[in-house]
Amino acid sequence: MAAPKMFDLVDNVAIVTGGNGGIGRGIALGLAEAGASIAILARNEEKSCATLKEIEAHGVKAIALKLDVTRRDDLRPAFEEVERKLGPVTILVNNAGVAVSKSVLKYNADDWDRVIETNLNSVFFLSQIAAQSMAQRSGGKIINIASEYSRLGSPSVASYSASKGGLVQLTKSIAIELARKNIQVNAIVPGWITTEMTAPAQSGPFHDEIIMRTPAGRFGEPEELAGAAIFLASHASDFVTGSVVYVDGGYAIR
Ligand code: NAI
Repeated sequence: MAAPKMFDLVDNVAIVTGGNGGIGRGIALGLAEAGASIAILARNEEKSCATLKEIEAHGVKAIALKLDVTRRDDLRPAFEEVERKLGPVTILVNNAGVAVSKSVLKYNADDWDRVIETNLNSVFFLSQIAAQSMAQRSGGKIINIASEYSRLGSPSVASYSASKGGLVQLTKSIAIELARKNIQVNAIVPGWITTEMTAPAQSGPFHDEIIMRTPAGRFGEPEELAGAAIFLASHASDFVTGSVVYVDGGYAIR
């Protein structure tokens, strides 16, 4: 059964940062299935190469560029290379993220800076570059991958929750500013998803606590983020901006 036209992403070009694994890969594959050309901007070339093959199986154009999103001077050249190779970027998914799990008493400056630089600062600078390009054309979509810790506190994740809380506020502020340029900016909050990042929580007592706390009674899978991403990347969401979409098996409501 064909999807309604409003979800069709043919003629779109999507950047997915950290799109070679975990949630980023799940979203990149979903956007490709809906017809978008995909640019993966990520660090590990071997993983990018494997994901590219899976994306190309959907019959769309795809490229991978090696990028560390914390290297600010590299962001614009990478963005411009994507536009040279695939055409104007219409969708940006800010997915790359890191977490440091450590007591506030033991944090050092590097732990703090690395998380804020990856999860928050890079999103601002890459979104700025994308918005400058989108504003010259007919608009675009920016999708930020936030977290339950954008709203909730938890021990040992001070920098992560600060970065993800900031990310939601950044989403709202730039959504307002860009709304009349037909650029929609939204965030997705994944619940607990089976990826490398959550490997330490996939077994043991913390695992059981997560399962108990999640109304759906399980972890989510990376591909389960694709539906929300397609919605927020497509014309179906043209009147949706500054919103936070929870894909979390109900975790946030308990
Ligand atoms: P993951 O560890 O599998 O993927 C993170 C990706 O970001 C990797 O591809 C990694 O290489 C990339 N990355 C990290 N630093 C980078 C840098 N400096 N430059 C370029 N790429 C970089 O983890 P996962 O779970 O797929 O995370 C994706 C996003 O989802 C992250 O922003 C994370 O905070 C968020 N998230 C994940 C949840 C989960 O349960 N897995 C829950 C809520 C949010």
